[in-house]
Amino acid sequence: MKFYKAGAIPEVPNMYFIYGDGGTGKTSLFKRFKGKKLLFSFDKSTNPLRNQKDTDFMVVEEDDFPNIQQLVVGFLQRAIKSGEYQAIALDNVTSLQNLVLENIDNASKDNRQNYQKLQIWFRQLATMLRESNVTIYATAHQIDNGTGGLTGAGRYGADMNEKTFNAFTSVFDFVGRLYVQDNQRWIDCDPESGNHGKNRIDDRTKFHAEELIESKQEEQAKEEGAA
Ligand SMILES: Nc1ncnc2c1ncn2[C@@H]1O[C@H](COP(=O)(O)OP(=O)(O)OP(=O)(O)O)[C@@H](O)[C@H]1O
Ligand SMILES: [Mg+2]
Repeated sequence: MKFYKAGAIPEVPNMYFIYGDGGTGKTSLFKRFKGKKLLFSFDKSTNPLRNQKDTDFMVVEEDDFPNIQQLVVGFLQRAIKSGEYQAIALDNVTSLQNLVLENIDNASKDNRQNYQKLQIWFRQLATMLRESNVTIYATAHQIDNGTGGLTGAGRYGADMNEKTFNAFTSVFDFVGRLYVQDNQRWIDCDPESGNHGKNRIDDRTKFHAEELIESKQEEQAKEEGAA
């Protein structure tokens, strides 16, 4: 534990978790983040960021699969320690989870224990990210459970083992679903929708995806302050 005197506790950078269907713009959204950035790509969907001068990439290759856990932790630690990056992205965690589970399954056939190991690994990863003092952006694919009930509540979630999702995202400040409607990109983080969603950063529940990092009100306040 670490003790902070009143008023001395430092502001911690935010952690964002965004899930959505393929092609909704999860990778592209990383453009909106400020400063020098690093994107870990587990699904090789890096094309939309190819021309970004402020973004470095770590792209996972097939040879890395058997040691993916050690490699991810090792490279993340190095990147964090370098102090070079203001934001780090993990794109996407669905792919990472599947690679990790494959390794755990290869090591032992005890299914229940394997899922526990998976959860523990992701909890430790999340803690490391939380302590990094860097803005974190993680993405995942979406799962569509279909419209079972009358209201359609809880239809969408992140495509991950549920307990692993909980273990990983418990430290995140923001969880939202990215989707396209009428040619516009939206993020829904309303916990009342029954989908995975939370927002500890401000009181918004649904907004244009472009405003994830900087809301319109904040921009307006800045402009008014500058005028
Ligand atoms: N805000 C935007 N305005 C216009 N086009 C966009 C926007 N965001 C993304 N796109 C375009 O949509 C396409 C898909 O975007 P992107 O690759 O970021 O989606 P993704 O969710 O990461 O997809 P995947 O799950 O396949 O990795 C790209 O061609 C990208 O240029
Ligand atoms: Mg992508």
